[in-house]
Amino acid sequence: MALFIGRRYCSKMPLASQHQRFCCVGTGASNQPPESLKEAESLAPDQVETLRSIYMSSSCSISYKNTGGLQITGGRGSRLIDVYGNEYLDTRNNVAHCGHGHPEIVEAITYQMKLLNTNSRYLHPNASLLSQKLSNLFPSSSRGDADSLTKVFFVNSGSEANDLALRLARAYNKKQQNKLHLQKDKQPKQCIITIDHAYHGHTLATLDVSPYKHHQGTEITECPAYVKRVPYPDMYRGVHSNCKDESEATEQYSAYVEDACQEITLNGDTVNAFLMEGGMSVAGVILPPKSYISRCVRAVRDAGGLYIADEVQTGFGRLGKCTWAFEYSNDDSDDDDDKVLPDIVTVGKPFGNGMPIAAVITTPKVASAFESLGVEYFNTFAASPVCCAAGLSMLHVLSKHELQNNALEVGSLLMKLFSEVKARHGWIGDIRGSGFFLGIELVRNQQTLEPATEETSFVCSVLKEKYRVLTSIDGFHENVVVVKPPMVFTKEDAVEFVTCFEKCLIDLPAIDKLHQLGKTPT
Ligand SMILES: Cc1ncc(COP(=O)(O)O)c(C=O)c1O
Repeated sequence: MALFIGRRYCSKMPLASQHQRFCCVGTGASNQPPESLKEAESLAPDQVETLRSIYMSSSCSISYKNTGGLQITGGRGSRLIDVYGNEYLDTRNNVAHCGHGHPEIVEAITYQMKLLNTNSRYLHPNASLLSQKLSNLFPSSSRGDADSLTKVFFVNSGSEANDLALRLARAYNKKQQNKLHLQKDKQPKQCIITIDHAYHGHTLATLDVSPYKHHQGTEITECPAYVKRVPYPDMYRGVHSNCKDESEATEQYSAYVEDACQEITLNGDTVNAFLMEGGMSVAGVILPPKSYISRCVRAVRDAGGLYIADEVQTGFGRLGKCTWAFEYSNDDSDDDDDKVLPDIVTVGKPFGNGMPIAAVITTPKVASAFESLGVEYFNTFAASPVCCAAGLSMLHVLSKHELQNNALEVGSLLMKLFSEVKARHGWIGDIRGSGFFLGIELVRNQQTLEPATEETSFVCSVLKEKYRVLTSIDGFHENVVVVKPPMVFTKEDAVEFVTCFEKCLIDLPAIDKLHQLGKTPT
């Protein structure tokens, strides 16, 4: 089999007409571009690439650069269409939550844009209603209203949401210190506990708590002293992968958080917050063992800290079984749900189905600590009527079409199909996750778990080039194919995907030929 399937730019019709066709397919919009977009639409693919390479930084990465990149110009549901008219199955987009170009969402955004788009200093029904609907998606706290997640801050991105969450935790902590009239000779460090290989954003504060980026080559190469990093609770290849069961894994991994709390306190510093995704995304779909989060949260709260749940990737029903990933590993036998109810939750990516809207949801107790500092929180684009229309519409479509249930059903089918492939081939070491948040870990050896990093890269390139299926790779060893499709992904999509995936495993060439394709940046 040829290792490299080159770019096919064979224009069967003039570019503008091709583009119009895909715009129509993608969005249902008028097939005539407005005057202001005609020049952009008339650019040939090579010109698009050249302009980007001259005027945009090469730090802004391009997916599939090793096989020529992709120019996507249209999309509908779980399909994307490139400028040459090729249709791709999208198994990786957790931003277009209800599918690409969902007509009801497009209509809501367009309707609102025609009426008005302005900032949050004006009263507007979209922002008010969306804050209520978002807050209603969380269970109320048995500790009372002050601990229920009822206060919403709108922001523009997941990074901004986590950045603000850290500010809120600092404000709360400061207030607690003041209440206790703590006079200390030295200024205590306000510490954050984060998990190894986590990613929480690209701002300075969120980079500090994102060890994933420290391994990747950024200006920050390790966590600063106020950030305590603990191992990720990986039951497959983590530091305690030899545990006999989940409860032993919980015991072992939560001990790191308990120890970190103790160490911070003994040092005279304070535990500000424990920041974690309920299902770790870039670490390669790591769902913690049962009760791990509740054990960690107990230790953190006993030390005076808050629990921040990052739901930027996993929120809004992606796991199928639950709306939020922080609920996933709760022990069902215990009816005290409150033990894992966060003090702060951050949401982003899927919230606006592609529009830049994210949010921080917190409790009146935490919000009042921030308010009491006299802070005016203003954010130019956040809570704009158009972005809030996108949020309202996404929530409406999600519930009307029961897409969380679809994630559960089709996600189970995907698991079953991948398990069958695993039984036929040696490459799949582990299949894990829930709903539309799945990780397929490839290994060269089932005993040593030697990561099949190059093979994973090869499979993803061939899936794109030969079968037109888009996937993503994550995990510490970059050997986990992460499946997180739009929530409208169908059973037929699932069968198509796994069939193509298996063909790629059969196609896997000898190791010495793997490098010819180069690394696949997904
Ligand atoms: C878990 C998690 N948190 C936060 C972020 C940052 O979100 P954004 O890219 O919208 O700033 C990401 C982005 O990938 C993420 O995966």
